[in-house]
Amino acid sequence: MESELTQGKKIILSGIQPTGTITLGNYLGAVKNWHNMQSQFDSIFFIADMHALTVRREPSEFRQTALSFFAQLLACGVDPNKSIMYFQSHVRQHAELQWILNCNTYVGEASRMTQFKDKSAKHADNINMGLMDYPVLMAADILLYQSDLVPVGIDQKQHLELTRDIAVRFNNRYGDTFKVPDGYIPTTGAKICSLQDPTSKMSKSDPDRNATVSVIDDEATIVRLFKRAVTDSGSEICAREDKPGITNLINIYAAIENKSVGEVEKEFAGQGYGTFKIAVGEAVAAKFKPIREEYQRYAADKEYIAKVANKGAENAAYLAERTLRKVKKKVGLVSF
Ligand code: TRP
Repeated sequence: MESELTQGKKIILSGIQPTGTITLGNYLGAVKNWHNMQSQFDSIFFIADMHALTVRREPSEFRQTALSFFAQLLACGVDPNKSIMYFQSHVRQHAELQWILNCNTYVGEASRMTQFKDKSAKHADNINMGLMDYPVLMAADILLYQSDLVPVGIDQKQHLELTRDIAVRFNNRYGDTFKVPDGYIPTTGAKICSLQDPTSKMSKSDPDRNATVSVIDDEATIVRLFKRAVTDSGSEICAREDKPGITNLINIYAAIENKSVGEVEKEFAGQGYGTFKIAVGEAVAAKFKPIREEYQRYAADKEYIAKVANKGAENAAYLAERTLRKVKKKVGLVSF
């Protein structure tokens, strides 16, 4: 999809739901890579605010969180001069394409999605239509921009598969319309686990405040969170399957310091857990200090955020409309 907005490179697209704050897990697993991908690809990054509405939110807090997320992305180095950045809800083509895709998606396949089943169990009092339609909106997000690559974690892989199925089905039924996207696993991506339960992924919606580190936490908080991190029995600093706590801390330190796991093990050989935890905490705190400071500057400048987000939405809508117009024509909607 070449235009003055893109440079003919592969298109990479990703979204992030605005809930909680961007965590160390999001940063090392995704957002840090977004920063690096910007020069390699034509990049599109958005705040998936419509996806977040599938769970009940307090409106004023939700609005604040979404704005704050935008500022956090800027602070993490997503550059609006290199990438298209916007709020999903500002580009109406997402919802419009979703409807047409809905008519080409079976209830059977949507209701088989693991995340739908998990979320239905977790929010049994609010199994709304949006929860089941969530992956179809995600398909619309991706297919609207003829994306080549979608960086997704393991929990979103099934949704990307469904997106591919929908794209292939649509193309077979109506003729070539959508690029069938591939998943993208960044070579430097790291899976970061909860500091309190190192066998489960660090989640920005974890209610346990001690489990996650945010990119905008201050230094004292970060060091304290690492001091409290759950570790394993024994005392050796080495990454092993039966030592999920220490392994997680080693992975974090290695990713932050751009070192290999082996190098970290060597660096801390013979030292105790206590010393190591403080070292990890201090390394993370030092890395996040400039991000927090940048964040504070952006967060205080709502006018700038509005300007960047409006421009991003305008550019996104321009690209999205080209696909949507084609789709409407293919399915036989009247146009003059
Ligand atoms: N569902 C994704 C998540 O929770 C966020 C998302 C929405 C997304 N639309 C997307 C990611 C499109 C990649 C592409 O992580």
